[in-house]
Amino acid sequence: MRTNGARRVIMVSMLRAYASLLIASSAAFAVACSSASSPPAALGNSTPIEDAAAPPVEDAGRTAAVTYHEHVEAIMQARCQSCHREGGTAPFALDTYAQTKARGPLLVDATQSRRMPPWGAAPTSDCAPQHGFKGDLRMTDAEIATLSEWVTQGMVEGDPSKSPAKPTFASDAITDGTHTLTIPRYTVAPSTRDDMRCFVLDPHLTEDTWFDATSVVAGDTAVVHHALVFLDPNGASRAKGGASGNYSCFGGPGFTNVSLLTAWAPGVPPTRYGTDVGVKVPAGALLVLQMHYHPAEAAHDDATSFVLRRRNTPPTWAALVRLIGNFEDAPTLQSGPNDPTSTPTFLIPAGVTNHTETMEFTMPAQVPELPLANMGTHMHWLGTNMTIEVTRPTERGGQPLHECLVATPHYDFNWQRGYSYDEPLDKLPTLMGGDKIRMRCTYDNSMGNPKLVRALQDQRLASPIDVRMGEQTLDEMCLGAFTFITPVL
Ligand code: HEC
Repeated sequence: MRTNGARRVIMVSMLRAYASLLIASSAAFAVACSSASSPPAALGNSTPIEDAAAPPVEDAGRTAAVTYHEHVEAIMQARCQSCHREGGTAPFALDTYAQTKARGPLLVDATQSRRMPPWGAAPTSDCAPQHGFKGDLRMTDAEIATLSEWVTQGMVEGDPSKSPAKPTFASDAITDGTHTLTIPRYTVAPSTRDDMRCFVLDPHLTEDTWFDATSVVAGDTAVVHHALVFLDPNGASRAKGGASGNYSCFGGPGFTNVSLLTAWAPGVPPTRYGTDVGVKVPAGALLVLQMHYHPAEAAHDDATSFVLRRRNTPPTWAALVRLIGNFEDAPTLQSGPNDPTSTPTFLIPAGVTNHTETMEFTMPAQVPELPLANMGTHMHWLGTNMTIEVTRPTERGGQPLHECLVATPHYDFNWQRGYSYDEPLDKLPTLMGGDKIRMRCTYDNSMGNPKLVRALQDQRLASPIDVRMGEQTLDEMCLGAFTFITPVL
């Protein structure tokens, strides 16, 4: 039942999506979806400064000895301190020699495994995107090696006069928001389990309203992990929230006719759409803020906010998130490894590592050519990599026949976000009717996957189970979040 439901939701979503793409109107978010990830991050020609990627730290004439002040401090400044600083969003600071030394081996482990800095996208051998992404947090191999050598050599402090200048971190907060929606103070109880909770927020809009910037402002960063914001045009969430205004939910907000507005994780800057682009929230719509709270030993009170900035005039372009994927049947679902019969089946058997599911979808003929600004991938705890490629029937205006749109080989459910192409509007990749999209999701359903081990503990299970498609913690998904730029007529 659940899986049929998921499929039906996506099919409905697609039909409505193309209806509105076809008319390319401002019926921006009149589309259903299940769950998703991806912030439509900054778009258009205005590249926000806070989203700029740090340049690689030069290997400053390194001799044999690696020291903190001469070699490591600059790497910490460029790659870690945007979050790991006094007052930053990460739980501990890496501002000083003593702070860095205290966690040296852990920092090496986190960077070598590429858990840190948190950034899931990277080229893979079979999918290397043509365009770079804004705000790329990835370290170079040389930077990771320098940090590791420093730890191996005994974490020498070196000469403080070689210390690079201290960077300043400008606040990237939206200071001129017109709407600030704050959840009623919520107590995250002491627990060993994650708390996934949906909060119903009412922007009290009496007319359709365009916004050009949005931001999630985390309350208590000790427990807030990530947040998704959904648009609920019919107000279906009000009944689910009841008197408290919140309810337990996982993946999506648990009802249909909902669309994704943004996804946030620590360190993700506010979404600024630029001068010509906006998102529309219809009159009377509700917003659902889905919070992912970490387990904590003590109770924590959270009061996270969602801030929006209104535009006074409609923009030229609308950013429109479309969710494509979660196909469960041929011809969109392809045959793959571990299928029990010759019929393509979405099934991730217990204990299997490196299992793949592949889906192919042809954009309906009537879809006009639309720029694609941002790509997100969405799976649950088993997901390790997802690639999205397009094959175009013919080359058109600089768009190649075949292109990798995104690959997320360091996918982590905890750090879901979208990746915005670092290109002006006229250089973005485009999709249109007839283009064939291929999505490939890779899963690890073995006890070697620490995220699965935790999810099983949460469910009081001792070993992996067969996993199918669905909305629950131990179900899976294979869903792409595509942010299209469509003309507002
Ligand atoms: C975009 C923000 C951000 C950046 C940049 C960042 N971190 Fe983190 N880091 C976090 C947050 C938030 C946590 C706590 C949540 C968690 O553990 O998932 C964390 C946790 C950690 C942890 C403990 C958990 C683990 O996975 O081991 C280590 C170690 C760490 N960071 C190292 C680093 C290093 C080293 C850098 C720079 C090379 C870095 N981080 C850059 C946000 C960031």
